Amino acid sequence: MDLEEPMGSVWRASAVAAGPGGGCRVLGLGTALPSTRVSNADLERFLETSDEWIASRTGIQERRVAGPEETLLDLAARSARACLGAAGVEPGQVDTIICSSSSPDETFPSLACRLQAELGCPLGPAFDLQAACSGAVYGLALAQSLIQSGLSHRVLVVAAEIFSRLLDWSDRSTAILFGDGAGAFLVGDERSPGSEILALDLGADGRGATALGTLPAPLDSQPSPNMPEYTSSKRSLGRVVTMNGREVFRFSTKILEEVVLRLAESIGVGVGDIALVVPHQANSRILATAAGRLKFPMERFVTNLERTGNTSSASIPLALAEAAANGVCRTGDLICLVAFGAGLTWGGLILRWGPTAVRVDDPATGG
Ligand code: ACO
Repeated sequence: MDLEEPMGSVWRASAVAAGPGGGCRVLGLGTALPSTRVSNADLERFLETSDEWIASRTGIQERRVAGPEETLLDLAARSARACLGAAGVEPGQVDTIICSSSSPDETFPSLACRLQAELGCPLGPAFDLQAACSGAVYGLALAQSLIQSGLSHRVLVVAAEIFSRLLDWSDRSTAILFGDGAGAFLVGDERSPGSEILALDLGADGRGATALGTLPAPLDSQPSPNMPEYTSSKRSLGRVVTMNGREVFRFSTKILEEVVLRLAESIGVGVGDIALVVPHQANSRILATAAGRLKFPMERFVTNLERTGNTSSASIPLALAEAAANGVCRTGDLICLVAFGAGLTWGGLILRWGPTAVRVDDPATGG
C-alpha cells in the first residue's frame, strides 16, 4: 500500500449533512477511568525508556490501568451509568445498545449484550462494532441512522477499552502509548435537548490493515520480578498490539486534516468556524502536525492524552467529557470529533453544542 497516494482518490469521503427534521442529538455523555495511575517514571523501572523520550515523542505523562479484578464490563457499565445519571434517563428508556471495543474479554456474547443485562435495559438490539479507535464515532453514526430510520429512539453508544491486557509489556514502542478507560454517549431524536449531529464522515482503507494490528502474545517463560502486576501474562488477552509507527503517523496526520476539511465543507463553513476539534488521542505529535496543516490553533484541539494515554475508541468521549465538564464547550459551538485507527478506519462528525449532560467517574480525582 502506498499511503503517499493523493487522499481524494484513495480515501473516498462519504460526508453527508444530516437532513432537517431528521437530525438527532447527543443527550448525555459519561466516562469512567480505573483508579491506578502509571507514570512514565513507573515504566522506566522495567522498560528501556525514559520520561523525557515518551513525553517529547508522544505528549503522554501517565495512563490508567485496570485493577486485577476490574473487567471491561465494569468500566463500560460505570461510564453508561454516569451518562444516564447525568441525562436523567432510566436504563428502561434505552432501546438500543452499541458497544465498541478492541479489547473484549470474550468473542461472544457481545459486550453490548452483557451491558444490557447489567443495566437492566429493555430487550432491543444490542451489538458490538469493530472499527478500532474509530469505534465511538462509527457508533454515533450508526445511532443516528437507527434513529433517523425510526428503528430506535434512545441509543447508548459505549466505547470501553482495557489495552493494558493487549500489550507486549517488553515492547517499548507500543507499551508506552496506551491506557484503559471507557466513555458512553446517549443519543436521541431532535425533540430532546442536546448537541445536534450536523454532519458525519466515515471511511476505511483495508489496504492499510497491516499498519496496525495484533499478533499472538509472546510466551512468558521467565517473568521478571521487577514487572508490576498489570503486566502479568495471566491478565493478557493472548494477543498483543503490533504497529508500524511511521506508517500510522503518516496516515493519521493526513486523514485528520482531510476529515476536518470535508466536514466543514459539507455544512458550508470554514475550518476557522469550528470552535473545537476533539481528535482521537493518539499522540501529541500527530495532533500538532495535523493542526499545523489545517492552520488551526493547537489550543482549540482538545487533548487529555497527557493524563490518559491513548485509550483507543474510548479516547474521544473521555476528551470531550473532560472539556465539557471544564466548561470549554459553549452553547452553539461547532465541535468536530475526528477518529482514526486500525483497519485503517476513520470517522468524523460535527456537533452543534447544546445542553448535553456530562458526568466524569474518576475515583483518582474524585470526579
Ligand atoms: N523509549 C526510548 N526509545 C524508543 C522508544 C521508547 N519508548 N520507542 C522506540 N524507541 C527508539 C527506537 O528503537 C528507535 O531507536 P533506533 O533509532 O536506535 O532504532 C528510536 O527510538 C526512534 O524510533 P522511531 O520509531 O523511529 O521513533 P519516532 O521518532 O518515529 O517516533 C512514534 C515513534 C512516536 C511511535 C511515532 O512513530 C509515532 O508517533 N507514530 C504514531 C504511532 C501512534 O501514535 N500510534 C498510536 C496508536 S495508533 C492509533 O491510535 C491510531
